[in-house]
Amino acid sequence: MMKTAGFYSKDGRYYCEQLPLVELAEEYGTPLYVYSKNYLLNRYQELVKAVNDPQSLVCFAVKSNSNLAILQLLAREGSGFDIVSGGELARVLEAGGDPQKIVYSGVGKTRSEQRAALEAGIATFNVESFPEFKQLDQLAGELGLLAPVAIRVNPEVDARTHHKITTGKKENKFGIPLNLIEQAARQVVELDNLQFMGLHFHIGSQITSSDPFERLGQRAVDLLNRLETAGIEVKTLNIGGGLGVCYDQEETLTPERWLQAVRSQLGSFEGRLLIEPGRYLTAGAGALLTSVVYYKPSVNKNFAIVDAGMNSLLRPAMYDAYHRIVPAVERSQQPSRLDVVGPICETGDTLGKDRLMPPPEPGDCLAVLEAGAYGASMASQYNSFPRPAEILVDQTEVQLIRRPETYQDLWAKERLIEQ
Ligand code: LLP
Repeated sequence: MMKTAGFYSKDGRYYCEQLPLVELAEEYGTPLYVYSKNYLLNRYQELVKAVNDPQSLVCFAVKSNSNLAILQLLAREGSGFDIVSGGELARVLEAGGDPQKIVYSGVGKTRSEQRAALEAGIATFNVESFPEFKQLDQLAGELGLLAPVAIRVNPEVDARTHHKITTGKKENKFGIPLNLIEQAARQVVELDNLQFMGLHFHIGSQITSSDPFERLGQRAVDLLNRLETAGIEVKTLNIGGGLGVCYDQEETLTPERWLQAVRSQLGSFEGRLLIEPGRYLTAGAGALLTSVVYYKPSVNKNFAIVDAGMNSLLRPAMYDAYHRIVPAVERSQQPSRLDVVGPICETGDTLGKDRLMPPPEPGDCLAVLEAGAYGASMASQYNSFPRPAEILVDQTEVQLIRRPETYQDLWAKERLIEQ
């Protein structure tokens, strides 16, 4: 595996590994998601190294990028997977993931989803409520199986991230409240068809400071002690995902500091540590290439209207997220302020506001960087634009890992009425 910068600029052109983005856009068309295989694998290995414990497991959060080829690459490295639906389970199995390395979160697991996961023999259900214990126990009993269970704790920790991606506060729907954890653990131990594995936490996403993770560690150790006193053995501790990445200029944590923040609180815990990183692995591994359709100078604002919008990358519209946007080929003209906007008929359809760049010409290719996490996986066909194709770059080699959608794909599952 080559050490690689993934995406970088050289002599006025932007590259993915050894290939100029502008050439990829010409060959595959836009909008297009481009991924760097070696960047992804390097990030995965960084995490494995930081965990530094053969009994622990990195479980990739499938929701951040669920393309089969991405899952397959990580499965081949030995990665585990964090899933939140029957669909994600099916994807992981299809990509060759090991069911015994799958952990399953989610507040609304249905009976049929639970059944599929039980039959596949996954590692752990991260159970989020008392009714979920009941349903899972009953189902496992019917199937003659034992369901391995971790309790998802709502740790009442404010991750201090965007309010739409914070999960560990009292008012959030996730997990079981702190004061009910012992009761929940007793119930799991008592129910015949459940096996108590341990505790699960996930406090939010895009977290860039260590203190929320230290507080997570404090909550965890407190619960570990309480359960020990109650005579209940905790074999696994899953600290979730949430490790933030740099989108602009923000300071971020290294994987070592992230894990250190939690581990420094844990004292003598000797069980299995699980982590569920998504964004850290995939964000910087991907860019969205888009072409300028028009440059539209206006009275108060200038607009670069491009062929990718909130349908291709929802994050700016949904969370006011910032993504760097760079020309694939530099222009020498004086930069001016402009908004990069998509073709969707909504005012919120903006990819970047007030960006300083030379006015682009129609046909110019722009790259929206750090778009590999929650990019393609949140894309839609809104306004009936086909979703982008996805390609994987390995040095000078390219593989198409999702073909472009056609117009027929837009209505492939729809039926005209008969009269
Ligand atoms: N584990 C659980 C239970 C989660 O709910 C999540 C993310 C993760 C792990 C992975 O978190 P990460 O390491 O990626 O931060 N669409 C939003 C992010 C939503 C995150 C949802 N849960 C965005 O684009 O920022």
